Amino acid sequence: MTITPPALSVFETLESEVRSYCRNWPAVFDRAQGARLTDEDGHTYLDFFAGAGSLNYGHNNPVMKRALIDYIERDGITHGLDMATTAKRAFLESFQNNVLRPRDLPYKVMFPGPTGTNAVEAALKLARKVKGRESIVSFTNAFHGMSLGSLAVTGNAFKRAGAGIPLVHGTPMPFDNYLDGRVPDFLWFERLLEDQGSGLNKPAAVIVETVQGEGGINVARPEWLRALSDLCRRRDMLLIVDDIQMGCGRTGAFFSFEEAGITPDIVTLSKSISGYGLPMSLCLFTPELDIWGPGEHNGTFRGNNPAFVTATAALDAYWADGQMEKQTLARGEQIEQTLLAICDEHAGLGARFRGRGLVWGVEFTDPARAAAICARAFELGLLIETSGPQSEVVKLLPPLTITPDELDEGLRTLARAVRETA
Ligand SMILES: Cc1ncc(COP(=O)(O)O)c(C=O)c1O
Repeated sequence: MTITPPALSVFETLESEVRSYCRNWPAVFDRAQGARLTDEDGHTYLDFFAGAGSLNYGHNNPVMKRALIDYIERDGITHGLDMATTAKRAFLESFQNNVLRPRDLPYKVMFPGPTGTNAVEAALKLARKVKGRESIVSFTNAFHGMSLGSLAVTGNAFKRAGAGIPLVHGTPMPFDNYLDGRVPDFLWFERLLEDQGSGLNKPAAVIVETVQGEGGINVARPEWLRALSDLCRRRDMLLIVDDIQMGCGRTGAFFSFEEAGITPDIVTLSKSISGYGLPMSLCLFTPELDIWGPGEHNGTFRGNNPAFVTATAALDAYWADGQMEKQTLARGEQIEQTLLAICDEHAGLGARFRGRGLVWGVEFTDPARAAAICARAFELGLLIETSGPQSEVVKLLPPLTITPDELDEGLRTLARAVRETA
């Protein structure tokens, strides 16, 4: 699977040094269908990456592809800012009928710019406007995006340093189990809030991921999330759940916070909401928070109508009943069994695993081991990446629509990659 240098030369000479995935996966990808990608030399790769969570329904899902082709062929609106369009109306109605109403969620829907970080910026801005306070609490190892507001509530030192200016008005608190269970949950946070001498500016909001995807697949327990929600209510802080990576069914239920039985004040969604890998994001909030003035927050590409078309098709096809959730949980058990066996076999490498639904991580004591496993997996035809502050976690993120056989094949490849690099 060696790539001839000319095939990659334009990327190396013209494209910025900032590129990253292509360094670990030196192939020129050409086509993809379901859970498989094909490069220009005809090699196929099984996908345990799913566009970093943007392809929950696989590549070129036929249901969405049909809807998109039909829409384009009839000259449907492509670019619409926030004008009312038939495509946006169909999406809003489907979102209400398939997602919000069955869950009794009262949210209003805002369309910010089409990336995840646009939704996070909107959420932070709204929380500050509503509460009239600047400070936001985030958690250790959080990742919320690369624009300045999102970076200020992100943990990773390398990413933060890229800002080039001080990142202010964010205060990190320990995520669930950060202190290995040695300290009661929220002891430190609660103490700072009640102590007039603590120096903590009263926060407008707390932003949290229920499972930290980029931070190393750290799974918050439902009871920890409930306690956080309760703390926010008691202390007059808004609770923002960033469901950009873990929403749209990744952990089983449509929203990752459903398992905990909480209703956040603000929710951000992006990545797989369009269902097809097209840029789209949403900021959801309870109606009383909707104090925006017209155009107070906007973005040229917030009306990406082809994304609304595929999003509607995805919701109608996969979320009209509870099948998707059941299937994801069943596939998750299949992964759990394999990871149990891998970690038993390689206890000497300090291998430990964790996850929910179809997001799992295997942590290794030595970060170089995780990198070597992903590199070997690539040679064996499996796309899988690392996460965590030292990239010490091998992160499994297959499409939710992967078949049991494909999943089994990928897990066997992963087990082989671990064995061959041990
Ligand atoms: C939880 C979370 N929030 C925000 C973002 C940022 O999304 P985007 O890269 O589309 O700006 C990501 C991206 O990985 C994410 O995982």
